[in-house]
Amino acid sequence: MAIYIATRPEETACIDKQGLQDPKSQRMHNTQNTTPLYLSAPDAVALVRRKGLKNCIAGMAEHIRADFLRWPEFDKSARVANHSKDGVIELMPISDDTTYSFKYVNGHPKNTALGLSTVMAFGVLADVATGAPTFVSELTLTTAMRTAATSALAAQTLARPGSRVMALIGNGAQSEFQALAFQHLVGIDTVRLFDLDPQATAKLVANLSASGLTLVVCASIAEAVQGADIVTTVTADKACATIITADMLQPGMHINAVGGDCPGKTELAAGVLAAAKVFVEFTPQTRIEGDIQQMPADFAVTELWEVLNGTRSGRDSAAQITVFDSVGFALEDFSALRFMHDAALALGYGERLALIPQMADPKNLFGTLLCNQDLAAQPRAERVAA
Ligand SMILES: NC(=O)c1ccc[n+]([C@@H]2O[C@H](COP(=O)([O-])OP(=O)(O)OC[C@H]3O[C@@H](n4cnc5c(N)ncnc54)[C@H](O)[C@@H]3O)[C@@H](O)[C@H]2O)c1
Repeated sequence: MAIYIATRPEETACIDKQGLQDPKSQRMHNTQNTTPLYLSAPDAVALVRRKGLKNCIAGMAEHIRADFLRWPEFDKSARVANHSKDGVIELMPISDDTTYSFKYVNGHPKNTALGLSTVMAFGVLADVATGAPTFVSELTLTTAMRTAATSALAAQTLARPGSRVMALIGNGAQSEFQALAFQHLVGIDTVRLFDLDPQATAKLVANLSASGLTLVVCASIAEAVQGADIVTTVTADKACATIITADMLQPGMHINAVGGDCPGKTELAAGVLAAAKVFVEFTPQTRIEGDIQQMPADFAVTELWEVLNGTRSGRDSAAQITVFDSVGFALEDFSALRFMHDAALALGYGERLALIPQMADPKNLFGTLLCNQDLAAQPRAERVAA
């Protein structure tokens, strides 16, 4: 796979002129630190095809588990959300001592009617020591994989052992990733499907026809959840929806609630939460965004990392109802970005991006204008390796 470095011929001459490549230069600029690896959406698709989706989801789940196990090492905050009538745009930052990441992500349930995705995302890794960005990546496909990986990790920990049947309510962009993650990481062999949009369900059935899963198309949510060990809700509707009601619960069910992830956007009736033991990612964020936004501020929850590291119990009995009130936390994107960065480097995907001005003297930012003024018409990238 080709790697590109985004320096142009004119720019190289300019760099030489500034003494960038002169080892005697006192303020020698480290171009490696200012040309982050860029993974485009097409390159991410090619990478996932090459590694295999199952391996990518499993690899991300392992990265997420490893990072959740060192939870106290992270500087954490609830994401910053800008709400509008039809959606939300969010920034999700997090860091440990060495690495910083953020994700830009939106959630606009009406977008599909406009031919746009409900969820679109990109993100960055950066070096904490210098602040230099090291990786810029698409995160739309990656978010679907990391969300499915997180859901499966939670279900491995919380669902009844031997769970084989899952109801999947909402058959849009995230849904196939959820189905495959639960097949490969949890042992699900049958998925009972429902979506208000029959075309979405037909798309899922066509996409997963060779997966080995038994796919059962259902006429209602109530029909889909009948006999299900696990119920995954991954709908998009900013309308305080209640997809699952208490009368649908069966003893021992695990509910993986993915689509209720911002104020006014819910999937579970309050009675479901009241009847269940509820697990969350980062409590301050989930109280605002999760299905528990309907519950009192002191409603009892357990954070997933505490169950993973054994300090708090998960499921207490075979008959208990468990709910993973997922909203998506920045640490999952940190883990997913690490996974994609390392995979891209190992397999040679991506290109170097001239995101930060390159200067022999970092105090001479003005000098880049004197030198680069005629570069606008030059090619954006130069192939440097194959
Ligand atoms: N928790 C997380 O980490 C996380 C991550 C990514 C996406 N999400 C959320 O997951 C949801 C789904 O995302 P997507 O990208 O698949 O969206 P999408 O728009 O592609 O698909 C959503 C599907 O839900 C269906 N739907 C809406 N209301 C329904 C209802 N009442 N009953 C049955 N089906 C219904 C729609 O017809 C659509 O097919 C969104 O709400 C998104 O914000 C959460």
